[in-house]
Amino acid sequence: MDLHYLISQMTLEEKASLCSGADFWHTKAIERLGIPAVMVSDGPHGLRKQRQDADHLGINDSIRAVCFPTASCLAAGFDKEAAREIGTMIGDSCRHEEVAVVLGPGVNIKRSPLCGRNFEYFSEDPLLAGHLAAAYVQGVQSRSIGTSVKHFAANNQEHRRMSSDSIMDERTLREIYLPAFEQVVKEGKAWTVMCSYNRLNGVYASQNHRLLTQILRDEWGFDGYVVSDWGAASDRVMGLAAGMDLEMPSSGGENDKRLVAAVKAGQLDEKLLDLAVLRILQVSQRYLQNADPQTPWDKEGQHRAARRIAAECMVLLKNEGSLLPLKAGKRIAVIGKFAREPRFQGGGSSHVNSFKVSSLLDALEGMENVTYAQGYDIAGEQPDERLIDEAVRAAKDAETVVIVAGLPDAFESEGYDREHLRMPQSQNELIRRVAAVNPNTVVVLYNGSPVEMPWIGQVKAVLEAYLGGQAVGEATKDVLFGDVNPSGRLPESFPLRLEDTPAFLSYGGEKDKAVYSEGIFVGYRCYDKKKTELLFPFGYGLSYTSFTYANLRLSKTGMDDTDTLLVRVDVTNTGKVAGKEVVQLYVADRESTVFRPVRELKGFEKIALAPGESRTVSFELGRRDFAYWNEALHDWHVETGSFGIQIGRSSRDIVLEADVLVRGTVALPTHFTMDSIFMDLQADERAAPLIAGLSHAMQQSLAPQGDAEQPEGDAASAAITADMLSAMFRYSPLRSTVMFSGGRVGFAQLEQMLRILNGDGKPEA
Ligand code: BGC
Repeated sequence: MDLHYLISQMTLEEKASLCSGADFWHTKAIERLGIPAVMVSDGPHGLRKQRQDADHLGINDSIRAVCFPTASCLAAGFDKEAAREIGTMIGDSCRHEEVAVVLGPGVNIKRSPLCGRNFEYFSEDPLLAGHLAAAYVQGVQSRSIGTSVKHFAANNQEHRRMSSDSIMDERTLREIYLPAFEQVVKEGKAWTVMCSYNRLNGVYASQNHRLLTQILRDEWGFDGYVVSDWGAASDRVMGLAAGMDLEMPSSGGENDKRLVAAVKAGQLDEKLLDLAVLRILQVSQRYLQNADPQTPWDKEGQHRAARRIAAECMVLLKNEGSLLPLKAGKRIAVIGKFAREPRFQGGGSSHVNSFKVSSLLDALEGMENVTYAQGYDIAGEQPDERLIDEAVRAAKDAETVVIVAGLPDAFESEGYDREHLRMPQSQNELIRRVAAVNPNTVVVLYNGSPVEMPWIGQVKAVLEAYLGGQAVGEATKDVLFGDVNPSGRLPESFPLRLEDTPAFLSYGGEKDKAVYSEGIFVGYRCYDKKKTELLFPFGYGLSYTSFTYANLRLSKTGMDDTDTLLVRVDVTNTGKVAGKEVVQLYVADRESTVFRPVRELKGFEKIALAPGESRTVSFELGRRDFAYWNEALHDWHVETGSFGIQIGRSSRDIVLEADVLVRGTVALPTHFTMDSIFMDLQADERAAPLIAGLSHAMQQSLAPQGDAEQPEGDAASAAITADMLSAMFRYSPLRSTVMFSGGRVGFAQLEQMLRILNGDGKPEA
């Protein structure tokens, strides 16, 4: 189809009509021009294709599909290949079901553990989120199915989600909230982007020209269409002009009429409408050209893959005395309703209708010496004495206890935020009472985001399984019994208390005003700087084997920021079983004039090692890995100085480090005025020699005049220390030279000097 020609054949009304959905899930068709409708569907953790009653809240049923681990769980895998594999499988299901675009992945940053939708997002760290989401997108799109990376941008709370205004400075936006989107667009080449419900710095994302055009398209080169989150369009005409092409779902033709009227009234350039139509049709065409409903959808095969991946994502948080892996044949009491009815996904638009679900009890079927007690009810928070007594009895009779606990659906969901980090009282009490009678207690957690663990000191082992998808029961068994060696790492910090979290003072906002006052200090960037005591740090996780690190090598010890640095490190499996290690590379800016985190994740690799095996892992670092966002430059900037290259087991456990001196090649624009202080003038290469004479005169006039009559060390001279003098000088503005010199230095002389410095005057001969 020659799309330009087709568009030239359309009436204004037809063009406007294509810019909104026909219904909940379809774009519009124009039969007379042979333009078909295509379908989009949620995801992103499996296909949520609705056949009849449509909704975007997870209320009505969708077709039977495969539910994979949710993003928070997948993120714990720290495994790009696993993300790509899930993407490919979802792509196949979309091909089979004739769905052109899957709505995801969600890459919003976990600003606070309270966000109700954190189970759908990857991490508190933009690099981890960006890498995994880009791999997922490449996987889906390798099957010629589009993705819709969401929710663009700064959509980090569910509270007042359709009206709240995320207010932040440019640096915070660029360093924390945009990079994952940037990577998915630049590297993942996402076909579509879904703009979010919220406002960003006062302007709705759906009509934010800066976001949707200047940043997304002009800077990052995005070439697909922007779709509104379902119902996110506020001012449709402004939205179209800003770069929001497709409004979803249908607005019953109302907004189409507004677009037509705006073009007729000369308020909207028809060329912009043409462009939006072109982008929508281009994406549909990419799908249609390769569509193949004959593609098999091997649900059983995908279930097996979901099991394998879920097991590899589980994070072993504690394993005292190597209680895990469990040995078959021992008397095991399995306790907890989630062992029979697992929570394996979250609520809302991402809810998948799983074609089958495995629980831990299903997986253990046929195993001897296993008893079960329910322990708690999922509904209701109050401890149930009868259920607890029964569980305690089962625990007393067993050699080992496995309690499966976590967060019920009602505790975390799309649409609202959590108010605290607690698990239900019924479960905490159960764990406490069971652990009191059996020291060999393991807790398995099914939850989408961090919880407090008041019982952590009383149990020997904790396995954080997150929301592992429909095969979670089998995957849990695989890890508990050592068929799979756990290799997940926390993609987010687990705080001890809600009050310690970086956004505690402002999260949720005042009415619609959500000020991101913690700035770039999100997650470990805050905790590490403040040395906050944590339950578990970012990047943390144990294994059934052990790994050592050696021979950290940098390809150079000094470099320009335009060079690349090759980092290599040797990792050895020193234990008795095979396992996977997540090698994490952090960069630490040692000296900086701007506030920077202690360290930031700049690379990670997951490698498999047999017992005794060693491998070399390599990373390449470039300018961006050393840079911060400079608001004056309106770009990334590297400050000359020393940077630590750190290899860690977590953000709190750095095992090897080496320094590299990086020279920034871009000078910051300087402009001096009469109010510039001596400290800044002296630090400037060009200014320092020019003001040398003045500095000297200033320091002379500030120094206390020697008085032969006064004995040394008397009260008057002791009041002015050398440090104080030097501070007074450093912080004095240039203009104060006039006053201190008693007029010997005049304003004319200073003005001439400023002209030379600022490049608008020639130095005198
Ligand atoms: C959610 C999106 C989802 C859309 C369609 C919205 O409520 O925020 O993530 O893709 O509905 O179901």
